[in-house]
Amino acid sequence: MSKKLLVTGGCGFIGSNFVRYWLEKHPDDEIVNLDALTYAGNPANLRDLENNPHYRFVKGNICDSQIVNELTKNIDIIVHFAAESHVDRSILAPEVFLQTNVLGTFNLLEAAVKNKVAHFHHIGTDEVFGSLPLETAEKFTLETKYDPRSPYSASKAASDHLVRAYGETYGLAYTITNCSNNYGPWQFPEKLFGLAITNLLEGKKVPVYGDGKNVRDWLFVTDHVRAIEAVLESGRQQETFLVGGLTRDISNFEVVSQIITLMGKNPEAEIEWVQDRAGHDRRYSIDWSATQQKLGWTPSVTFEQGLQQTIDWYRTHEDWWRPLKQKAAGFFAQNYHQKGQP
Ligand code: NAD
Ligand code: TYD
Repeated sequence: MSKKLLVTGGCGFIGSNFVRYWLEKHPDDEIVNLDALTYAGNPANLRDLENNPHYRFVKGNICDSQIVNELTKNIDIIVHFAAESHVDRSILAPEVFLQTNVLGTFNLLEAAVKNKVAHFHHIGTDEVFGSLPLETAEKFTLETKYDPRSPYSASKAASDHLVRAYGETYGLAYTITNCSNNYGPWQFPEKLFGLAITNLLEGKKVPVYGDGKNVRDWLFVTDHVRAIEAVLESGRQQETFLVGGLTRDISNFEVVSQIITLMGKNPEAEIEWVQDRAGHDRRYSIDWSATQQKLGWTPSVTFEQGLQQTIDWYRTHEDWWRPLKQKAAGFFAQNYHQKGQP
């Protein structure tokens, strides 16, 4: 039976990958995409769907209860991506993170309960679990306690708690995925991969924070989207799933060196060592085996494959990212002020 989905934040990086994937795989379903078009939201990400009768874009803020209430009527599933998502921006200007990530999520939950939405899926992050030490085999599991350490991760932790609270208190059927760092096409060029690749294409160096030994778990965006699909199709409720990629522990220095080498340049010449991020989480690593057992999902794209696809995509989409980098010039100047130039 066909379904009606309300996707929030569908003009962002992961949301736009999800919307495109979902309508390809589920062409009878309908998607309404509610997005405020912040600096990170870009209608160009879904331009190819503009004439698809199963897709509708609504410009609006998830903090606006009137619009959210209107759009959640007759919706089967809410897939909630909309958020302020960049840690460095949360350090410089935290307030909007609390507004969107906490109050916006609260607003959606209220409307979901009021309008009896059958399923609320919330996109969470592994950053809610805080920081693991380097050189251990320790990984985040469903038993790991919440220990957020940046305004971004604290606001995302609050939103996870609210979703679970609405499940317990008001009986809202929900699921949550907490995933690791995504990379791939359509990512705003301020996060590590997009920034590094586009800097190199612009003839600039790549800034590496601190000692470059911080470790992230890297997840190719379509593997994340497939995991959300597996959750939604499973019919499971009141559960959380951890989603990660096919990486071994790989430091930022190694990631950046690989990008530079694959782009035919010399890492020694192209890295600019800059001051560390405040409160910089040392290591993230996700144990997604429980998700595999429950849903049969596994990530499918190796780091090498995903990296090459991402580089190729930015190489062929200069028209997309160049204006975005210009638009973000003020943020770059502020963020890298003491650190050096991006
Ligand atoms: P993004 O910054 O690329 O996109 C966010 C989207 O939300 C944009 O289209 C923006 O316009 C929209 N938005 C922001 N505030 C809004 C508001 N108040 N009302 C309506 N729309 C609003 O983010 P992303 O990387 O695609 O992340 C999507 C979700 O996944 C977020 O919830 C994020 O916390 C989570 N997540 C991201 C990553 C990652 O590596 N990118 C990792 C784990 C979890
Ligand atoms: P980022 O892509 O901002 O994701 P997150 O902070 O959510 O993990 O950063 C990934 C890692 O790369 C993180 O350890 C910070 C580091 N980093 C740099 O070294 N230089 C940069 O210019 C950026 C943006 C990030």
